[in-house]
Amino acid sequence: MSDDGVNATRRKFLTAATSTVGAAGAVGIMVPFVGSWNPSAKAKAAGAPVKFDISKMEPGQMVNVEWRGKPVYVMYRTQEQLDALSGLDDQLKDPLSEISIQPEYVTGIARAIRPEILVVEGLCTHLGCAPKFRPEVGAADLGGAAWMGGFFCPCHGSKFDLSGRVYSGVPASSNLIVPPYSFEGENLLVIGVDAEAA
Ligand code: FES
Repeated sequence: MSDDGVNATRRKFLTAATSTVGAAGAVGIMVPFVGSWNPSAKAKAAGAPVKFDISKMEPGQMVNVEWRGKPVYVMYRTQEQLDALSGLDDQLKDPLSEISIQPEYVTGIARAIRPEILVVEGLCTHLGCAPKFRPEVGAADLGGAAWMGGFFCPCHGSKFDLSGRVYSGVPASSNLIVPPYSFEGENLLVIGVDAEAA
């Protein structure tokens, strides 16, 4: 790709990300782009870990944490939302994440160290737009009764469940990426440090 092409793609992504952050979903669900215990902007750009206290999160809530200049979606899933995951496998391209990118310590359909806490990069695996958070079960514009909540990419219509697993019949071919992460104590999520190395 030429430099112009790269820049055009970057501009397109930035525009999409800017337009979706803070107003995720057609029903006006607010997704805060939260502050976290960041090192300097320079260190952050170089890949320093980012820490985020999950203790104030409410069940069902999603927050957007910036890591390495990328959005990372952190969602507190309810038991009901976790229970719904197992009924979706035959609608998904990679239900067991066999061809998707995630750390080896993240296994199963929950794709998480702690089942209730989902951590995924907020970048569509098609061309990198920011998927919108659409947790509303039965959303009419996303398949009605079959929709159990998830993420919807407005650029070309890719859909992901609440584990970031991609649906069949959409342009994206793999699940949302799970970045390396770990926990310090009960409540401190550390994005950018593998669980084994923590
Ligand atoms: S970038 Fe998400 S569907 Fe194309």
